[in-house]
Amino acid sequence: MQTLFGIPIPHIVLVLEIVVLLALLIGWRYGASRMNFKLHHKAVYLVVLFHILTVGLWMIPQSIERLAVMMSNPIMFWYQIVHDIVGILALGLGAILVIIFLVKTGMPLKLLKRTRPFMFLTIGVWVIAFVLGVYWFLIAWIWI
Ligand code: HEM
Repeated sequence: MQTLFGIPIPHIVLVLEIVVLLALLIGWRYGASRMNFKLHHKAVYLVVLFHILTVGLWMIPQSIERLAVMMSNPIMFWYQIVHDIVGILALGLGAILVIIFLVKTGMPLKLLKRTRPFMFLTIGVWVIAFVLGVYWFLIAWIWI
């Protein structure tokens, strides 16, 4: 297992992903749902920053390396394939929402109402990607 400062990288990534999910949930519960959009925005920026590290620098390169093995037996590695697809969807939706609110400044109420279902969709697919990532971690490093 590759390490960073003596700590296995998958363990670091798992902790960062837990922090990210908590930030998203806190940003939603105490931020967006109470109209405290500053808190919500801070949570989203933290998520973007951490995901550059976890997904951009670690997961995607790992995924590319494993692509041939994964595709050689899609039934056996179903959770990896679904994780990657759902993860890309979650990140894509998140990026679109961030761009929309960067372009349309001032957070108009109409736009907030329109984008709300997409925010729920994003958090939904995000949680699925997270659960499958944890399942993958357990299979790869703990159960075997
Ligand atoms: C919202 C998006 C995502 C979340 C919440 C997420 C979450 C996780 C978690 C919790 C793990 C377990 C930690 C670990 O083993 O390192 C993991 C592992 C992994 N994820 Fe993701 N992930 C996301 C997106 C993606 C994407 C887009 C890809 C690639 C296309 C990807 C590829 C991987 C790979 C290859 C691993 C195993 C890495 C290893 O061997 O340690 N993930 N993910």
